Amino acid sequence: MTTRTADPRVVPLIAGRWSPRAFDGSDLPQADLDVIFQAAGLAPSAFNYQPWRFLYAHRADAALFAKFLAPLVEFNQSWANSASVLVYVVSEEAMVSDKGANPNHSHSFDAGAAWAMLALQASALGYHSHGMTGVDFEAARAALEVPAGFRIEAAIALGTMTTPEGLPEYLREREVPSARKPVGEIAIAGTFR
Ligand SMILES: Cc1cc2nc3c(=O)[nH]c(=O)nc-3n(C[C@H](O)[C@H](O)[C@H](O)COP(=O)(O)O)c2cc1C
Repeated sequence: MTTRTADPRVVPLIAGRWSPRAFDGSDLPQADLDVIFQAAGLAPSAFNYQPWRFLYAHRADAALFAKFLAPLVEFNQSWANSASVLVYVVSEEAMVSDKGANPNHSHSFDAGAAWAMLALQASALGYHSHGMTGVDFEAARAALEVPAGFRIEAAIALGTMTTPEGLPEYLREREVPSARKPVGEIAIAGTFR
């Protein structure tokens, strides 16, 4: 039973994307993951700087996966442990050229656009994605060796959705697409008021 409605002219891939927590832990082939990251990299960015980086670990690589899982808050660990791949989206805070480094106003905005592309491409291939900021970001920076000048934006669980039986009961009922604010609430014809 879905709680989401959209005009039929909204691209079905967009309207149909949602973030489950029940993943089956199966392998996500590297070739598919490469397509997903290629789609992410097709996002627009200021000056085409492409400030995003995607650090990832396959569940099959148990030691690396554990390193990626550990910085998640306990709640997220409980279900993201069954994802096929864990990804951290990182963005470079400055635009660096041979003329020096200048702050990049839109590094997070651009990385967000890339994550949206990633999520849609994952859906198109039959996978699901689930973004997470329930992360100990300092722990993630240390574990993933993210240098200064790069912001860890979020983590992402990627994988194949399964039935919710394996989840605790309070999460089972949340395994449905969620509703959205009406357009009239998020789009303002004119100034902010
Ligand atoms: C940046 C970001 C951070 C999020 N953090 C978490 C999180 O830490 N844990 C969680 O269970 N869901 C998290 N979510 C999932 C959101 O709650 C979810 O996307 C939102 O409720 C909309 O639902 P939908 O993606 O199914 O449409 C996050 C989503 C985004 C985009």
